[in-house]
Amino acid sequence: MSPTSPKIPYGGDYNPEQWPQEVWDDDHRLFTRAGIDTLTVGVFSWSLTQPAEDAYDFTVLDRILDRAAAEGRQVCLATGTAALPPWLAKRRPEVNRTDFEGRRHRYGQRHNFCPSSPAYRSAATALAGRLAERYAQHPTLLAWHVNNEYGGACYCELCAEAFRGWLRERHGALDALNDAWWTTFWSHRYTDWDQIEPPSALTEHWRGPDRTAFQGITLDYQRFMTDALLGCFTAEKEAIRVHDQDTPVTTNLMGAYRPLDYHRWAPHLDFASWDNYPPLDAPPTRPALAHDLMRGLKDGAPFWLMEQTPSTTACRDVNPLRRPGELRLATWQAVAHGADAALYFQLRASRGACEKYHGAVIGHAGRDDTRVFREVAALGAELELLGDATLGARTPARTALLFDWDSWWALEISDGPSRLVRYPDVVHAYYRAAREAGADVDVIPVTADLTPYDVVLAPVLHLVKGDLAARLEEFARRGGTVLATFLTARSDEHDRAFLTDVPGPLAPLLGIRVDEWDARPEGVVQPVHMGEFTAEARLVFEIVQPRGAEPIATYGSDFYAGTPAVTRNRVGKGGEAWYVATALDQPGVDHVVRRVLARHDLIGPYADHPRVETATRVAPDGTRLLFLLNHAAEPVHLTAHATAADLLTGKRADQGEPLPLDPLGVAVLRLEEDAQ
Ligand code: GLA
Ligand code: ZN
Repeated sequence: MSPTSPKIPYGGDYNPEQWPQEVWDDDHRLFTRAGIDTLTVGVFSWSLTQPAEDAYDFTVLDRILDRAAAEGRQVCLATGTAALPPWLAKRRPEVNRTDFEGRRHRYGQRHNFCPSSPAYRSAATALAGRLAERYAQHPTLLAWHVNNEYGGACYCELCAEAFRGWLRERHGALDALNDAWWTTFWSHRYTDWDQIEPPSALTEHWRGPDRTAFQGITLDYQRFMTDALLGCFTAEKEAIRVHDQDTPVTTNLMGAYRPLDYHRWAPHLDFASWDNYPPLDAPPTRPALAHDLMRGLKDGAPFWLMEQTPSTTACRDVNPLRRPGELRLATWQAVAHGADAALYFQLRASRGACEKYHGAVIGHAGRDDTRVFREVAALGAELELLGDATLGARTPARTALLFDWDSWWALEISDGPSRLVRYPDVVHAYYRAAREAGADVDVIPVTADLTPYDVVLAPVLHLVKGDLAARLEEFARRGGTVLATFLTARSDEHDRAFLTDVPGPLAPLLGIRVDEWDARPEGVVQPVHMGEFTAEARLVFEIVQPRGAEPIATYGSDFYAGTPAVTRNRVGKGGEAWYVATALDQPGVDHVVRRVLARHDLIGPYADHPRVETATRVAPDGTRLLFLLNHAAEPVHLTAHATAADLLTGKRADQGEPLPLDPLGVAVLRLEEDAQ
């Protein structure tokens, strides 16, 4: 179930409750000028809508929605439960969180509720229910936005008790839990569920959140907290569904956000949505990876870009400005990767408090002749022009990248072999190599069906669970190519080592055996020879003994010089299983990934233009759209690889004709029949 709209919904977070009526008039006049048709409202209005336990006041929300209706705009309506109202925190102190250090918080901030608190749960669901009862039939209602950016964790007594209940469900018997967590180590055998404490600075983590004495308990707490917060979401969704069976419900996620395993959330979202605030100076493949991860939550269905800044953020130490053209490029990048909505945080800048310097479509002076407003309005006009051309379009990827929160957690809470290996960095290196070679990539959970793909990339897939090993073998036997890396398949779902050769259940498929691995400081560089080409490797060097596989690259120094750093095992009829035993630099990863993609003819037509991003979407009527995004500050001169028309300019280019792209330029090409 996803929202239906005649075009890409365009707009964003809007807080008119902070302003007098005259400002609302200005807002709507400017929205019309900017092509803004969708308003996300009520995200932080709990204390206004419910000023006391038994008092609801919908006057302001009524006016906001009625005004939106009168102006012909759609509303994404938030339940507003992400920031507690002061009266609730005061009356029921247990709704406040207890942090990792064990400090019970007092009232303040936002995203501040304990997910296990019945008082919070009942107040939040009551509010969600009341809102649904009142607005389910409102003509503006396009989607429900539950809470906001669920995240963080709580370590209070209520959470401890809920954790014990969750563990009983998961493990059944205490013996099974003792076995899973390997508690005979350091005298931890539990004889009563009550002895189990949440893993925090007071218990297993004396040296910080990533340093635990027991990986098993820490992994289970991450899963539990994911489920506890998810329980808050599903409870509100159920409260909405009592009054409204039809309107799609979502919550704004945060892309590759470590604390929550969004794959556990995915089945409960009607559609995925997320907030895109790329890290400073990130290459464009970083947000692209997050878009593809979010698209992968709902089996490739389009998602919403729920928030992005039109200009700057405020929460970072240094908040750079988006350069002219960058907002447009980032927005088209989102659409290219499957976004069916383009929304901002925020439409009008807040006057006070910590986000007053956060970028907004309308600044404090309320002008429409600023550069940012002009860029927002120009983009609004382009999206208008595009109409419904991209709505519902899917990505026809033949390359999959397995993304696994359990592996992320396990890798980064591990003592040994190296704390310098960061899961998102290695995943990004492989993703980037495939994307820059022109392949569309689906970023999928390990449980996903692999049959649509030719290539499966499994970087640092530390935990191998369920029937994955068998499914990867089957995939390779059918002719597919699997690529795994160092620190893959090291342990089971409880992070217990496999009692076999490394890499555990993937060893037969990969045709290798690893007995030893060497971890070195960042500055230690090992040359890796791949024929004519030499890459650099760092951090972890596994010593591979081929058991059927052939070496593709070898280490160049140290006592393992000449032994394989990259191997390939031929499997079944035309399948291959590659293993990369070390952290190669980007050129090294590119080299290996391009060889793998080339086998399946998956290198794109513009693969020798690293700053040009391509992405394909296929519309419900079969129309094939090719997005070209020039991330360089210089123009680029491409040649059309197929006959196509640009939906943004109306210009046609026949195959072989010049296809220029401006600096930061974008083309949305509709490929002609014969090119498909
Ligand atoms: C998050 C929140 C918004 C706002 C922005 C600012 O995404 O959801 O409420 O605070 O950050 O960047
Ligand atoms: Zn709690």
